[in-house]
Amino acid sequence: MWPNDRFIRLSGIELPIIQAPMAGSALSDMVIAVSEAGGLGSLACALLSAENASNELETIRRKTARPINANFFCHQPPTKDRSREMNWRHRLNAYYVQLQIDSNIFIPNSARAPFDEKMCGLVTDFHPEVVSFHFGLPEKHLLLRIRKTGAKILSSATTVNEARWLEDQGCDAIIAQGFEAGGHRGMFLTEDVSRQVGTMALVPQVVDAVKVPVIAAGGIADARGILAAFALGAAAVQIGTAYLHCPEAQISPLHRQALKGMRDNDTAITNVFTGRPARAIVNRFMREVGPMSDLAPKFPVAAAALAPLRAKSEMTGSADFTALWSGQAARLSRELPAADLTKQLAAETLKNLTLLQTMA
Ligand SMILES: Cc1cc2nc3c(=O)[nH]c(=O)nc-3n(C[C@H](O)[C@H](O)[C@H](O)COP(=O)(O)O)c2cc1C
Repeated sequence: MWPNDRFIRLSGIELPIIQAPMAGSALSDMVIAVSEAGGLGSLACALLSAENASNELETIRRKTARPINANFFCHQPPTKDRSREMNWRHRLNAYYVQLQIDSNIFIPNSARAPFDEKMCGLVTDFHPEVVSFHFGLPEKHLLLRIRKTGAKILSSATTVNEARWLEDQGCDAIIAQGFEAGGHRGMFLTEDVSRQVGTMALVPQVVDAVKVPVIAAGGIADARGILAAFALGAAAVQIGTAYLHCPEAQISPLHRQALKGMRDNDTAITNVFTGRPARAIVNRFMREVGPMSDLAPKFPVAAAALAPLRAKSEMTGSADFTALWSGQAARLSRELPAADLTKQLAAETLKNLTLLQTMA
């Protein structure tokens, strides 16, 4: 039925649609809804404590027997760079003054922790059928433990080089993340954002370069995008931004509102929210401090000093300091419950496929 069923067979799902893991924006409700609908629901664990992640996985396992994906960041935590942090605080100081925040306020570290022994314990406890990573792969001994659970291992590549590296390390499938994608760039073998590749160009080149199934991600939000991904040789799609419109998305009313009025060119790649390049809706902070800044401390340290600004301005109904993550195709999305969205996207893709075949 599907032009390419390699990922469906690999993961045991029915529909070749992965709801993208979205740290801070999607929890068990979304995962359960998508997996029950036949897609692959993904729990992003990067912003969860091990205890919270465990609770979420426990809920998911109780409510669905379908395959699920547990997702983790695997960045190298940066070495402490006090002078860079001080420069960053200095750059933000005028905003602290403007919002009347005490500049000596205690600022906790960012919660974004890389995959570790504790999180690996969750994988061995809950046996997610798929485990995916962003920013490369974790250390070899952890990867081996995951493999022993029988989980299929995925990670994001933003270049052909990264895709080949992931395949060499034993990934079972590769997510080709194009430049259009919302949230963090998964880039890990390059730091040059100006040379990142769009989905249309990236997917077929990754398909040609590796033997494992390729999943297209970035700017896919309706059946036309899914069909195009298959035409480029993908075996599935990973969709993030379109799922942010679902009632299950755990986003603030400000974020939801901003997504509603989106135009094609309202987003940009920025490092000012966390220290790593990511795509978000352009707002005051991005305009005035970025979108890219050499001052931003390394991921995820930059996020810490921003947190009080975000909290204070959100209290007055402003998203000036909030990271409004979004991809370039937000406008194509619909407000539907996650299960309906998954089923409709799949049904419309198959209908378009039949139409195209009739025309050929
Ligand atoms: C709000 C948001 C949060 C994200 N968080 C994660 C994450 O925690 N882990 C991950 O692997 N990818 C994350 N991504 C990237 C997605 O996996 C995917 O590459 C992207 O959403 C695809 O592009 P699209 O948003 O245009 O559909 C995130 C994306 C968004 C929009």
